[in-house]
Amino acid sequence: MLQKVTVIGAGNVGATCAQRAAEKELADVVLVDVVPDMPLGKALDLCEAAPVEKHDARITGANDYGPSKDSDVIIVTAGIARKPGMSRDDLIKTNAGIVNTVVKEAAKLSPQAVIIVVSNPLDAMCHVALKASGFPSQRVIGMAGVLDSARFRFFIAEALNVSVENTHAFVLGGHGDTMVPLPRFSTVAGIPITELLPPDQIQALCQRTAQGGAEIVGLLKTGSAYYAPASSAVEMAEAILKDKKKILPCAVYLSGQYGYQDLYIGVPVKLGKGGAEEVIQIKLTAAEKTALDKSADAVRGLVKVLGDLGF
Ligand code: APR
Repeated sequence: MLQKVTVIGAGNVGATCAQRAAEKELADVVLVDVVPDMPLGKALDLCEAAPVEKHDARITGANDYGPSKDSDVIIVTAGIARKPGMSRDDLIKTNAGIVNTVVKEAAKLSPQAVIIVVSNPLDAMCHVALKASGFPSQRVIGMAGVLDSARFRFFIAEALNVSVENTHAFVLGGHGDTMVPLPRFSTVAGIPITELLPPDQIQALCQRTAQGGAEIVGLLKTGSAYYAPASSAVEMAEAILKDKKKILPCAVYLSGQYGYQDLYIGVPVKLGKGGAEEVIQIKLTAAEKTALDKSADAVRGLVKVLGDLGF
């Protein structure tokens, strides 16, 4: 029997997560959404693709949490995208309400699950999910760094005309404009990109990475990125389900590491069946630490808004 992944929110990111997890035969998937019948329709459509895609994962759609019972991993994608004219605080308020409700419901039925938060604003939603679940912080993790570094990797591969498979990249910090790409830990076949590209070009790639989400929003016009976000969330789920002990940049709750206390921020962590099993601490240069401090301040600002809203 396969393990179970519940994906909450059957929109663009959620449905793509379900598709990728099923096609990799990582787990049976339960797809939950508030829109009547819609997740049942998407689940059935995905099941009907299974004979052609050659997998035996079952995808179940639901408007309630019953089928999600005893999930190993819960991916939270429920929420709304920021609409024109909507302030950041309005978005936080709406999505905090949604994430709080869905996590409470799902956590009750799957007390041993690892929760992967995808809903934005990511770092703030991690704080909401941690509180709503009552889980130990190792089992509430945010998906941001894998996506941000995947974008950076693609840009590096494109700039050097090499396989994306040769690339590694690290992006730390909050999931926003203040994220901190780390070129000296970003490599092609083990060679730091600082030896392969001129500083101004690296700077441009870092800039493009930090604006990666906005670039896609600008092109799509309606909605935000979902293929790469779904791939990234599913890579994290795979590391957890298979207990791979894979080191990936994720938003985790820090209690002293990197000098931060009680704050979700993106750092390298070891992912296994216990969730974020270890925070990997690397020595940062003064400039990198200053940039990370700035990013941490931005996350603290969001957490303050949450507090003012009663979350
Ligand atoms: N319970 C379950 N599902 C909900 C709830 C709820 N209380 N509220 C909203 N949803 C569902 C919506 O019905 C919708 O199907 O969440 C889904 C969100 O899907 P999309 O609007 O397509 O948004 P998507 O692009 O998938 O992004 C989801 O991920 O990357 C982040 O910023 C993005 O916060 C956003 C989230």
